[in-house]
Amino acid sequence: MATLGHARRVVRDDPVPGALLPIEGLTFDQILHDLRVLPIHPGDVLEVHSSLSSLGWVAGGADTVVDALMAAVGPQGVLVMPAFPISRTLSVSESDRARGVQAKVRRLPDDWTGPTGMGAIADAFARRPNTVRGVGLHRVAAWGYDAQRHRDGLTYLLSNGGKALLLGVGIYRFTGMHYAEHVGIPPEVAAYYELPSEVQALYPPDMLVFGGEPPEPGWSKVLAAAEQRGMVTRGRVGAAETLLLAAGQVVALYEQALRDDPYGLFGVERPAAGS
Ligand SMILES: CC(C)(COP(=O)(O)OP(=O)(O)OC[C@H]1O[C@@H](n2cnc3c(N)ncnc32)[C@H](O)[C@@H]1OP(=O)(O)O)[C@@H](O)C(=O)NCCC(=O)NCCS
Repeated sequence: MATLGHARRVVRDDPVPGALLPIEGLTFDQILHDLRVLPIHPGDVLEVHSSLSSLGWVAGGADTVVDALMAAVGPQGVLVMPAFPISRTLSVSESDRARGVQAKVRRLPDDWTGPTGMGAIADAFARRPNTVRGVGLHRVAAWGYDAQRHRDGLTYLLSNGGKALLLGVGIYRFTGMHYAEHVGIPPEVAAYYELPSEVQALYPPDMLVFGGEPPEPGWSKVLAAAEQRGMVTRGRVGAAETLLLAAGQVVALYEQALRDDPYGLFGVERPAAGS
């Protein structure tokens, strides 16, 4: 159910049993209003990661959110969303866990147009005839001014004042963070989430399997440091909590933390000198 401030917008969960009430919901105008308050301006270059259900009930579903996001940045702005051809996370069995597998997804065919793990809003966006889409596993879809420049990834967005909107999802969905990792992650840290090739070989080639997390949440620490430096604005769209990030600045902060002390960032013991 929506939080108090937005309850007026959601009547779907009305507690009166059997009542014949209109199934209303958040409208285009309400979503656009909330996006403006965040603030998202016409001309913004915006990467979005999202959860439709987090907004509360939306009249018209994911397409209404896509319309509002397009209206918020306008044709002089750019919208970019992940279009990775991967499924939602699959259930993990006891035998998966025994091998260290904590999450798994299926790689989908490149021409897949059904639901993906990117969520209903990103899927609806990628299906729009006026979006362009890159190639490969980590492809993105883009729309707006100069969209072609963004279709191959986030490099341009990150180095040209782009913003990232996390709409009802946390920092661990901000794909841009991976762009800092070209500086390298020590093997002692990577060992927490990378699985040995013998384990990967136990799964079919279209199954992607992942290990666990390092002891401390490095990305959350970067987020906290970014907030202290004024690089992050918290807000709300419908019932969804949002984070609006100065994307390139936050990624640069992560890159610096990786250069300075990657062990401390993830709570991993630094190997003794010479070992
Ligand atoms: C995984 C994830 C997409 C799940 O979010 P979600 O809100 O449960 O799912 P979706 O965004 O796909 O929205 C669909 C859900 O919205 C709800 N829904 C359906 N119609 C709706 C409407 N009109 N209004 C509001 N909610 C609606 C339903 O619960 C639906 O779930 P169902 O299809 O199982 O019935 C989200 O947590 C996430 O991680 N998003 C970011 C993904 C990403 O950017 N990854 C980048 C690489 S890490």
